Amino acid sequence: MTVTLGTAAVELDAAAVRFRSKKFDVTAIREVSLAVEPGEFVSIVGPSGCGKSTLLKLVSGLLKPSSGAVRLLGEPVTGPRHDIGYVFQRAALLEWRSVRRNILLQAEMRGMPAAGAARRADELIAMTGLAGFETALPHELSGGMQQRVALCRALLHRPRVLLMDEPFGALDALTREQMNVELRRIWRETGTTVLLVTHSIAEAVYLADRVVVMTARPGSVRDLIPVELPSEREYSETLARPEFSATAARIRRLLG
Ligand SMILES: Nc1ncnc2c1ncn2[C@@H]1O[C@H](COP(=O)(O)OP(=O)(O)OP(=O)(O)O)[C@@H](O)[C@H]1O
Ligand SMILES: [Mg+2]
Repeated sequence: MTVTLGTAAVELDAAAVRFRSKKFDVTAIREVSLAVEPGEFVSIVGPSGCGKSTLLKLVSGLLKPSSGAVRLLGEPVTGPRHDIGYVFQRAALLEWRSVRRNILLQAEMRGMPAAGAARRADELIAMTGLAGFETALPHELSGGMQQRVALCRALLHRPRVLLMDEPFGALDALTREQMNVELRRIWRETGTTVLLVTHSIAEAVYLADRVVVMTARPGSVRDLIPVELPSEREYSETLARPEFSATAARIRRLLG
């Protein structure tokens, strides 16, 4: 399968990743073709070990495809890309740095002009409800707040593409719902393209325009499910909708 060239924010064209060493020979993903439109929110679900994290690493340029092609904003990905944001399952904050300085780490690593970075950090701190905690250290924050800091750090340089690998997996159910609502709002405000890996079908559907359902390893795209929900998504009202349950049930069936 080929995808149209040029316009997509993220494009994979029959991408495969094979890990080979003396001990292993594992094909993590095979024949993955996918085109994500600019500003689109795509969730990725699939069995454990099917290559979801591998897929994100491929898009970020941390890994190279063994075959096939990967393009970001129309350009081939040939090495680590700096115009993306990455959020991991664990917030991975520096324990000795304050909230503000953890967020500004992104600017330091990129050599961004300090004044602009500081302004953007303040905007993000306000947007994610962290105002008042700028000088707190990570251990003084709840898990949800730590993930908000990680999200601010990932958004500081206004990335066109945001990659999220199970960012809310370690949070309790209620905090996770709040973070889902916040992420949806932030995504709509920033207009960034998002690829989110999650094990939660509800999270996948609530947040996304489309859900990629992967097969077991070697992972490939089993199906691409459009989410036919209004763009204004009040949480409980959305989950109570018949379209929501129907989409979630369809994904659950595909996952077996
Ligand atoms: N650096 C690596 N070297 C060797 N094998 C790897 C490497 N990274 C991943 N793999 C293998 O590739 C496969 C896919 O791993 P990956 O982490 O992408 O799965 P996943 O879908 O993210 O799983 P999970 O849902 O458990 O996070 C696994 O079999 C894993 O062992
Ligand atoms: Mg993973």
